[in-house]
Amino acid sequence: MKLKKLLFAAALFAVGCATVPQQAELPVYLNEDAPLEERVEDALQRLTLREKIDLIHAQSKFSSAGVERLGIPEVWCTDGPHGIRPEVMWDEWDQAKWTNDSCTAFPALTCLAATWNPEMSAKYGMAIGEEARYREKDVLLGPGVNIYRTPMNGRNFEYMGEDPLLASKMVVPYIQNVQKNGVAACVKHFALNNQEIERHGVNVVVDDRALYEIYLPAFKAAVQEGGAWAIMPAYNRYKGQHCCHNQYLLNDILKGEWGFDGVALSDWGGVHDTREAALHGLDMEFGSWTNGLNWGASNAYDMYHMAVPYMKAIENGELTTKELDDKVRRVLRLIFRTAMNTRKPFGSMNTEAHLQAARDIAGEGVVLLKNEGDVLPVDLAKAKTILVVGENAIKMMTVGGGSSSLKVLKEYTPLEGIQRYVGDKAKVVYERGYVGDVTGEYNGVKSGQDLSESRSAEQLIADAVAAAKKADVVLFFGGLNKKEGQDCEGADRSEYALPYGQNEVIEALVAANKNLVVVNISGNAVAMPWVEKVPSIMQGWFLGSESGNALAQVIFGEVNPSGHLPFTFPVRLEDNSAHSVGEWPGAKDVHYTEGIFVGYRWADKQQLKALFPFGHGLSYTTFEVGEPEVSKTAIKQGGNGKITIKCEVRNTGKREGAEVVQLYIGDKESYLPRPVKELKDFAKLHLEAGQSGVAELTITEEDLKFFDDKKHEWVSEKGEFTAYIATSAEDILYTVDFSLK
Ligand code: GLC
Repeated sequence: MKLKKLLFAAALFAVGCATVPQQAELPVYLNEDAPLEERVEDALQRLTLREKIDLIHAQSKFSSAGVERLGIPEVWCTDGPHGIRPEVMWDEWDQAKWTNDSCTAFPALTCLAATWNPEMSAKYGMAIGEEARYREKDVLLGPGVNIYRTPMNGRNFEYMGEDPLLASKMVVPYIQNVQKNGVAACVKHFALNNQEIERHGVNVVVDDRALYEIYLPAFKAAVQEGGAWAIMPAYNRYKGQHCCHNQYLLNDILKGEWGFDGVALSDWGGVHDTREAALHGLDMEFGSWTNGLNWGASNAYDMYHMAVPYMKAIENGELTTKELDDKVRRVLRLIFRTAMNTRKPFGSMNTEAHLQAARDIAGEGVVLLKNEGDVLPVDLAKAKTILVVGENAIKMMTVGGGSSSLKVLKEYTPLEGIQRYVGDKAKVVYERGYVGDVTGEYNGVKSGQDLSESRSAEQLIADAVAAAKKADVVLFFGGLNKKEGQDCEGADRSEYALPYGQNEVIEALVAANKNLVVVNISGNAVAMPWVEKVPSIMQGWFLGSESGNALAQVIFGEVNPSGHLPFTFPVRLEDNSAHSVGEWPGAKDVHYTEGIFVGYRWADKQQLKALFPFGHGLSYTTFEVGEPEVSKTAIKQGGNGKITIKCEVRNTGKREGAEVVQLYIGDKESYLPRPVKELKDFAKLHLEAGQSGVAELTITEEDLKFFDDKKHEWVSEKGEFTAYIATSAEDILYTVDFSLK
């Protein structure tokens, strides 16, 4: 019997080998055990000129062609940085009307940055990568890391704040974990896309120091540490050339200095010229308005700049296949890493794990800006009537804002989250307070909400005030709402103030009931003229599917907020450098005259006190940061010395919480102007009540360098430095002097 089984098994094995070819017998480009570069070269030499051209431009709104003859598949892209966009028509922006493409909307990236916790970034990247993988997408068009230069930029909510170090630390794990799913992250918009006004043509004029010290670092980290397989050049111009085909940014810096081996994939409609696209480092062209007659002309793919016109230029000898082959190598590398990678996980969609991830990120990103008195956390044993006011308490925010707009299975608004959380423990009353925007639709995705309101503005305030007088606590939800001009792609804000008369509502509410909490839902700083009168203020961000649940957990104290601001809240717009010495929005050119003095770097230089400073964030508990222990007070230039600064952090309150200890470095004297201090490291510690931990911060020579634009290189300069141990750009706890010998 045993012998029979053995013979049968042997026969099976023999047959098995005969039918499925072993990897080693496949052509090299199909052999997943072969080295990537060998697969690339093997595939390249099999391609005709036309097939090479087909690989480097779109065939539909979000896909590029493969090579059927060789079994090379299409490449499918999807927006966006906060979740997987619902399917659109082959040739149009309109909905394909699928019924299985709802997704999880994760918090906006400003919230992720505000967690100051790279573990949250890893969690984010894995979860969104699983959803992209499940939807069979090869390229995720995100994350975005354009620096927050001005609070007026409509797309800041999609990015990671004003500081290059924070954005660098927070973008890397996101990219690494998206790509663990066999999906390429496509970091964007490279570079200098810091406003929406005239975004398709404005020419940014910025000095090399600001370019290298402020605007490039997060992209460099995304490429060199994150290992991004794709990058999306921006619409705007730099040095007169469109970023989508820009010799300086794409060839000299990205591919030259940084050694990027992935694909530069144009923004949609960002390509304007065949010769420039061929020679200045673009690898894939999407969304062109080729015939120039109307935007997004469908079925014009052969007319794309890098389609037939490119092929013709090669055929008539104007251009060679040298640049084309480099593009094709990069596209093949992308395909082997994604679409032709059979060893990738299967992904998942709309899972409880993803909703939990969204809540975790939101809970760690919400920033408690002010909390005097005992309003927060709201104690349900005492608060028996809770009044919720504001349109942002009921308005869905996952729809809108531009290309990052999503179609979710369910979005819990703040009011719903509060009602679910409170249950029958208290009475929850709602008053509109103001009317902002009653629409709720983007590209055919409708929120389905009826936000119509017949009462006058005065009546709305009167009704809210009357309710406030009878409430134990009043929770106001306002801010912006991802509509045109209110944190939205394609438009910048027209004012720094809160829109829709919200200030009047807030003033009236706090006069009627001092137990007021203002929750600002936005991706940008806003003016707060009532800041002295309101005891509790929270920065709520656009939090996605779980908005209401996450906010309720923070408001009622189940979650202790531990977010810290990724950008400065100036008191007035004029306190922001782009609106004082800088230029915004500019005209044909926009001059970044402020140079490296962006955000807190400007506030320090001008000794301006912020409304709330960069890095600021409170907690429901208290912390004590002990004297720093310094491993040494000097490192040698050219050595690979490191100074370690350790601080004991104790949770001196009654409940668990997390603190973020920040390390800023100041160069006491330098031959070029430098900011007073710059963020160079940070540590977030989660501590139980009474528990203490050690924040470990390090300084290396790299951290001391600045970009010498004359030498065009990063340099360090011997001399004296100051290390600032802080819990925000204004809350300096200790300073430690050290030197570079
Ligand atoms: C948009 C955006 C970009 C987006 C792309 C596709 O114009 O600038 O972020 O990924 O086009 O929707």
